[in-house]
Amino acid sequence: MLYRSKIVGMGMYLPENVVTNHDLEQLMDTSDAWIVERTGIRERRFFTEGKDTTATMAAEASRMALDRAGLKAQEIDAIVFATLSPDYYFPGSGVLLMRELGIVGIPAFDLRQQCAGFVYALSLADAYIRLGHYKNVLIACSEIQSNLLELSTRGRNMAVIFGDGAAAVVLTRHQQEGLGVISTHLHADGTYAEELYMAHPGCRRKVRITPQMLEDGSMLPYMNGNAVFKHAIVRFMEVIYEALEANGLQVEDLDMVIPHQANLRISKYIQEQLQLPDEKMYNNIQWVGNTTAASIPLAMCEAWEKGLLRPGMLVCTPAFGSGFVWGSALIRM
Ligand SMILES: CC(C)(COP(=O)(O)OP(=O)(O)OC[C@H]1O[C@@H](n2cnc3c(N)ncnc32)[C@H](O)[C@@H]1OP(=O)(O)O)[C@@H](O)C(=O)NCCC(=O)NCCS
Repeated sequence: MLYRSKIVGMGMYLPENVVTNHDLEQLMDTSDAWIVERTGIRERRFFTEGKDTTATMAAEASRMALDRAGLKAQEIDAIVFATLSPDYYFPGSGVLLMRELGIVGIPAFDLRQQCAGFVYALSLADAYIRLGHYKNVLIACSEIQSNLLELSTRGRNMAVIFGDGAAAVVLTRHQQEGLGVISTHLHADGTYAEELYMAHPGCRRKVRITPQMLEDGSMLPYMNGNAVFKHAIVRFMEVIYEALEANGLQVEDLDMVIPHQANLRISKYIQEQLQLPDEKMYNNIQWVGNTTAASIPLAMCEAWEKGLLRPGMLVCTPAFGSGFVWGSALIRM
């Protein structure tokens, strides 16, 4: 029996608290002009404590995706949850999402693939559906990153980039070759793990959190922006061409590229290299910042809501992030 997967519902949730570059100017030595020029970001959302958690945001997005798919939560056979910012150190947020949705008993996977989280989640869900194990899989990607950032001049290189948000996708089984998830391509290289990482509180030391860590900033995430940028642009291009070549396709066959929203300059570079017209590239980092695992499904959902993603369109979703991990998916909508 031939089994394939396709997207039948997408949903998203953005916290209500909008934080503009001008708001950040009040907190650190930065400027709207610097942020817009280097990243393209104009505003992002920060969660509201007591209202939003990584799991509740995922639940909001999931309910919307399930509703649009015409499915009840009880019809989901498995959950794949991608985040670098789970509610708890353990257990993962997958089980919390199940609880929010009122379902018990199905498996929940938690993925820690950072900015490539959605592509990895899609690949895993697609593989299970192809094997015939599951019919409907819910992919939820949700991040609360604003409380990992230090909103000060010391933390500014990361503070201006990242935002909070969630998105969900329902994948379902079908039997038509060439429709839905065509292929996924995943990679990783731990050589550069410390170029974009958060060391503490890790499990390497007997005492996981010390006053010194709080003081010296070593509990903040660290990013070597230049190194990330250089690797990202190479890997993004490689993995787009890999997806096309694996399927005997050309750049001209693509109807839309929705890259991980790392930085608008990275997206512009990809667009220029592929010589894509504006209508074949979708970006929303300007309004939501870099939302890590949630960024691709958030952009996809927004594009779909605007009527820009239509049935039959061929979409490529390349991603790159901390690890380094990278990958792409080719999807026929
Ligand atoms: C982070 C990034 C925007 C920085 O841009 P850049 O052009 O590389 O800038 P640099 O880091 O070289 O810093 C240039 C100067 O701006 C300063 N600067 C850094 N952050 C700043 C901020 N928020 N506001 C104002 N100035 C800032 C630096 O201190 C530096 O000053 P100096 O020249 O006096 O030392 C860029 O490297 C980038 O986008 N990298 C990829 C990030 C990414 O995609 N991360 C997610 C991975 S999924």
